[in-house]
Amino acid sequence: MSSVTIWSACSGQIWRHEGSNVAMTEHVGTSGGPALNVVVVQKSLEAESIVSLELAAPDGAALPPFAAGAHVDVEVHPDLVRQYSLWNDPVEQDRYRIAVLLEPQSRGGSRAVHQDLREGQLLRIGFPRNNFQLAERARRSVLFAGGIGITPLLAMAYQLHRWGSDFTLHYCARTRARAAFAERLTRAPFANSVRMYFDDGPAEQGFSLERHMPEPEADVHLYICGPAGFLAAVRERAALLGWQAAQIHSEAFTQQVSLEGEGFLVRAAASGITVEVGADQSIAQALTDAGVDVLTSCEQGVCGTCLTRVLEGVPDHRDAYLTDEEKAANASITICCSRARSRILVLDI
Ligand code: FES
Repeated sequence: MSSVTIWSACSGQIWRHEGSNVAMTEHVGTSGGPALNVVVVQKSLEAESIVSLELAAPDGAALPPFAAGAHVDVEVHPDLVRQYSLWNDPVEQDRYRIAVLLEPQSRGGSRAVHQDLREGQLLRIGFPRNNFQLAERARRSVLFAGGIGITPLLAMAYQLHRWGSDFTLHYCARTRARAAFAERLTRAPFANSVRMYFDDGPAEQGFSLERHMPEPEADVHLYICGPAGFLAAVRERAALLGWQAAQIHSEAFTQQVSLEGEGFLVRAAASGITVEVGADQSIAQALTDAGVDVLTSCEQGVCGTCLTRVLEGVPDHRDAYLTDEEKAANASITICCSRARSRILVLDI
């Protein structure tokens, strides 16, 4: 009888079921949720200022499966959790691969990965989560990667290739030396579907949204990942050409958030307290100072960890996590960075 491994999470514990044997293998949580213990099997320089990490179960067992576009929370230090996209072929069950750019303005995460993490080290990571999934039945997919935003799109390229789907991956980087996976992409089985553009290359070979953004077509989907400015430019061009919101999928890698604004009140309904959120202060910070248990991770409005239900009032959404439709619905808010348009917000926390 073949051995089937099924992973499931229950009450913060992760159980691995093999055949009829059930063994508790992990328990813990990076940001309060279930987590896995993995070992850093390999750490290598992928490009200038970018390292790749290969993570595996300490006993070499299969890891929970993931779909292209997924990311994991990585506890790079105690109390310091960052999200990184998985870039390997989702068919691989024995490892997760991430790549991390050393951010010049690092708030600790990328610096810790580059400087402190070592091969052989144990790490706690979250289950793969996916807010950036491929539409399976698309007739064609067009992928736009800016810089380190290549990571989830590389996993998508592997997946689309396996499905035999028609796709093009446009990959923009400042220079070839700073382009992670440039070599790998030229040797990939889907190399013919990849176009690379470097800012320091010949102008006529550069990336141009006017030239490279196709006209809208039914059953065609766009996927965009990269810095916030890149994302905004690609989305804007797509909208201008008439692409429907449902055909445009994006994930911001990082974004600069401004907390600036007037102070307002937040009533934490479940906790039974009301706090004043000052100018330049986040709702999460004000609540934490008042003793409310608040979960945050990226603190940049990117990961969705802090998403909280809105019971009353009008949020001023400043995140890159919610879609335009979700923002318009005002049913939830990312409390790490978003603010209020009304004098008071009532939250389910
Ligand atoms: S902590 Fe990541 S969106 Fe708020």
